[in-house]
Amino acid sequence: MQKLKIGVLASGSGSNLQAIIDEARAGTLPAEVVLVISDKPDAYALTRAEEAGIITAVVEPKDFATREEYDAKIVKLLQLSGADTVALAGYLRIVTPTLLDAFPGRVLNIHPALLPAFPGLHAQRQAWEHGVKVSGCTVHFVDAGLDSGPIILQAPVPVLEDDEADTLAARILEQEHIIYPLALRLLAEGKLTVKGRRVLISD
Ligand code: GRF
Repeated sequence: MQKLKIGVLASGSGSNLQAIIDEARAGTLPAEVVLVISDKPDAYALTRAEEAGIITAVVEPKDFATREEYDAKIVKLLQLSGADTVALAGYLRIVTPTLLDAFPGRVLNIHPALLPAFPGLHAQRQAWEHGVKVSGCTVHFVDAGLDSGPIILQAPVPVLEDDEADTLAARILEQEHIIYPLALRLLAEGKLTVKGRRVLISD
């Protein structure tokens, strides 16, 4: 089985990136993180990558006239790194067809809610404020919509009576760190087949 060469896009703390790095290093995920790109120069995800000896790049939106030109730069860096898979991990920008067309069927994202519920930002708080009894997280293939691509894996997380948005988010994050590496492993093992909106997982 071929190891995945993963390019990770991250805007924040990078705990999902760290989970992917750790499982790749442990050998439980047949992959190598070959590049970490952030739109934020101060993203702690960059520090995590540097500490793991992974090449990093900062690409700031203000330096580009359009979202497409921004993504064209991202594509160039990913292609130079040899990446064959792109993992959005706490990445706060919408990707354009420029990026999706360069990596068809190879761009994944983690969302901290049970899509299609609560797309977009602060999904954990949206769920908590709505009063759901169960929330969770979703790994999905990325399409041109907002958190709308075919779903690969989901994990449920019960909402407790004494939860606040941040305590719920922390429990969801624990599950994110489990299902994101697992989804990438299934991809590496060739066990994912997309049929329309469904992602079939062969055993
Ligand atoms: C996570 O809940 C992720 O799902 C969301 O941002 C949070 C932080 O992610 N997109 P990370 O620690 O930067 O991976």
